[in-house]
Amino acid sequence: MARIIDAPLLADRRLAGDGCELPGRPIDDAAKRGLAFTPEVKRETDALYEKVERLIPPFEWPAYAPLIAGINRLKREKNAIILAHNYMTSEIFFCVGDIRGDSLQLAREAANTNAKVIVQAGVHFMAETSKILAPEKTVLIPDLRAGCSLAASITGADVRLIKAKYPGVPVVTYVNTSAEVKAESDVTCTSSNAVQVCEWAAKEWGTDRVILIPDEFLAKNVAAMTDLKIIAWHGRCEVHERFTAEDIAEIRAAHPGVVVLAHPECPPEVMAASDYAGSTAALAAYVGKRQPGKVLLLTECSMSDNVAAASPRTDFIRPCNLCPHMKRISLANIYDALLEMKHKVEIPEEVRVRAKQAIDRMLALPKTEKPLDFEVGLPEAAVELV
Ligand code: 13P
Ligand code: SF4
Repeated sequence: MARIIDAPLLADRRLAGDGCELPGRPIDDAAKRGLAFTPEVKRETDALYEKVERLIPPFEWPAYAPLIAGINRLKREKNAIILAHNYMTSEIFFCVGDIRGDSLQLAREAANTNAKVIVQAGVHFMAETSKILAPEKTVLIPDLRAGCSLAASITGADVRLIKAKYPGVPVVTYVNTSAEVKAESDVTCTSSNAVQVCEWAAKEWGTDRVILIPDEFLAKNVAAMTDLKIIAWHGRCEVHERFTAEDIAEIRAAHPGVVVLAHPECPPEVMAASDYAGSTAALAAYVGKRQPGKVLLLTECSMSDNVAAASPRTDFIRPCNLCPHMKRISLANIYDALLEMKHKVEIPEEVRVRAKQAIDRMLALPKTEKPLDFEVGLPEAAVELV
């Protein structure tokens, strides 16, 4: 059975006030909404509990199950689907999520679904991406405050200034940005295809330079893998920027043989000290395929739970870095969103159309069989910071 082992020193440090708080349990949430753990609810949710029984103790299930049953009923009534990002807590990810995956997979599904309503169990930029691709659908975000430090790091006006400084250089924008920023961009990318998109853009625009914004570390990690000159912005993911090469050394010493997997929003020194790197979907696929004995996932905390549920033979060492934005999404606010049809994501049509062009260019690139890996162990590459 998979075990989650909190990495001793690292976890202590983070729990000692360095930003790590475990998400609350919905003890009263169901009762407040008039929902109870009835025999019918138990029957309806027994099969779902099997998916999370290694993660949620049986005495807690009666607090979750009424909300889960309520959400699944509302989904049927309203012809809605829930797009659940890999960072969602397990009760959301496995028990109410219809489509699960990384940013790219969720964007593709938003474009293809026949449902009338999309509930984004993720952060605001993901809900905007869904609305950009599916304007005829109602797109709901359960908590409007579910932002992203990368998306907050740059505005449309910033991009206009960058373009004025580097005329003729294509702007490749990470999907972790607002619709307004995407509208100023030539093409978007995700961590599943960043290198592929940059190389495509350079070829299309006939240049050896690409502007890749706003994640400085992603830009540096892409620069290490291509001969292109990369112009970057100083945005950071507040979750991944906190991992260090010393963290890895500490954990390797305490857990010999551990396989270290990193998300490319991590600093280059962390990528260099890791065994494998890729998007959240690539990391999950790596564990699923190779079933290593012991793994350290250098990404958001809930990923370890979700991957562990599907990989019972792997032990997970988990430095606890939560994304406070992702953790704003709960069963209770998903239920409220569906019941009251709130909060609807709206984007001015003129912005949406231009943002869609940038996303469409990315989606039109050949679909790879699996998310593209990032190479690890490469020397750090220089980028030009705007
Ligand atoms: P992925 O595209 O890899 O799912 O990453 C999204 C994200 O926000 C990572 O922090
Ligand atoms: Fe944004 Fe980082 Fe949270 Fe991902 S983990 S949503 S990049 S703040």
